Amino acid sequence: MEELIFEQCVQGRTGISLPAVDVPEEEIDRMIPHEYLRQDPPGLPEVTEVEAVRHFVRLSQRNYGVDAGFYPLGSCTMKYNPKINEDVSRLDGFARIHPCQGEDSVQGCLELLYNMDRFLSGITGMARVSLQPAAGAHGELAGLMMIKAYHDHRGEKQRTRIIVPDSSHGTNPASAQMAGLEIVEIKSNQWGRIDLGALEQAADGRVAGIMLTNPNTLGLFENGIREIARIVHDAGGLLYNDGANANAILGISTPGDMGFDVIHLNLHKSFSAPHGGGGPGSGPVGVKEELVPFLPRPVVELKDGRYYLDCDRPLSIGKVRSFYGNFGVIVKACAYILAMGPEGLRRAAEDAVLNANYMMNRLKEYYDLPYDQACMHEFVLSGSRQKEKGVTTEDIAKRLLDYGYHPPTIYFPLIVKEALMIEPTETESLETLDRFIDAMIKIAREVGQEPEKVRQAPHTTAAGRLDAVKAARKPVLRWRP
Ligand SMILES: Cc1ncc(COP(=O)(O)O)c(C=O)c1O
Repeated sequence: MEELIFEQCVQGRTGISLPAVDVPEEEIDRMIPHEYLRQDPPGLPEVTEVEAVRHFVRLSQRNYGVDAGFYPLGSCTMKYNPKINEDVSRLDGFARIHPCQGEDSVQGCLELLYNMDRFLSGITGMARVSLQPAAGAHGELAGLMMIKAYHDHRGEKQRTRIIVPDSSHGTNPASAQMAGLEIVEIKSNQWGRIDLGALEQAADGRVAGIMLTNPNTLGLFENGIREIARIVHDAGGLLYNDGANANAILGISTPGDMGFDVIHLNLHKSFSAPHGGGGPGSGPVGVKEELVPFLPRPVVELKDGRYYLDCDRPLSIGKVRSFYGNFGVIVKACAYILAMGPEGLRRAAEDAVLNANYMMNRLKEYYDLPYDQACMHEFVLSGSRQKEKGVTTEDIAKRLLDYGYHPPTIYFPLIVKEALMIEPTETESLETLDRFIDAMIKIAREVGQEPEKVRQAPHTTAAGRLDAVKAARKPVLRWRP
């Protein structure tokens, strides 16, 4: 492996030439208290410009993203991010404004936020949407805080429980815990759906609501959703929809019509804004009419042709993020919605579902499919058959790297042993899907013929098999001179 940039350092070598300091020393002393002044050089890598450029270009080439290849990471909707969205979000009127500017100088931006509220309300069947939350999990927290505030306001402070199915995404119970709610887990039935009997038992006067992902994390549509809504509403609870899987239903069905009262969406998934690597996200949260007073403030309103920020909202849960959310991400998602239109969004969802069902049906001969039913936008295989031969799902994921693919999500959802969760998205061609399927089939054959090769994978990547436990427990995050 080539040397890291820090190992290339030669004392005194530099890639920059800075002008001499032109601030008199006594002036510096006056402006910056002595204890804050650096006494020693910062310990930066001492390399030339060309070495620095090569270092960063090499790193970028090692990076894997949707622009580099197929990325079937289940539950993450790694669809193509149209470049026109980037262009739009970088227009000066969007990118070069300041959040403290007066309302009259940012009418266009406020209009965009207002319109996005309208678009997303229409798509989800909600009354209003707040664009403040910075990620899906953040939307969950804001949504649950509103549910809690709603019950408290009605004098039902005893509603402190939230029902969460065992197939849920980990952020659901985590957000519920953060919102101060007690989690009641209910088991899925043999078809991977909510067990209605268990739900009836759990839904009592202490329940604040249920958190449900639809389609759920097995990629299956909760076809009992109307009955679920009836049971929870009859018990006085509300329905929270984790809408991170909205890519399967955009323009086809509406969570509001299913009976959901609150929903968050992941703009960085379903609405094509780039994500991964900790980049900025956006998790707008929408609510039905009776919860509108509790929305985070401010809310963008329109009066007499002028947009303004309404902060006078006494029942609001308050601000959940500085300013108005990750504005650039919201602009990208808005560009996507406008470019696609209602027909385009529907077509995207239909193609996402078609692609997933095609792959599932071609692969189920080679891997176990615990819930063998038509799926939505993703499906979950199990590597149990391969595990019996001594090859784990992790080994299969690592071997996929040798074939040039980002692996699917593994070991999630937790209710599937040796899970491999595959989400192809709508933006991939039939040829790409076929090539990935071929790689999965080859690996399944290798497990029978040369299991050691799979167990030792990856063989072709810059780094071999890492000690994942050590990397997680003792990460080295900073280079020190
Ligand atoms: C089903 C589901 N819910 C919630 C989330 C949380 O979204 P975020 O990662 O933006 O916080 C995810 C993200 O992976 C998800 O897949």
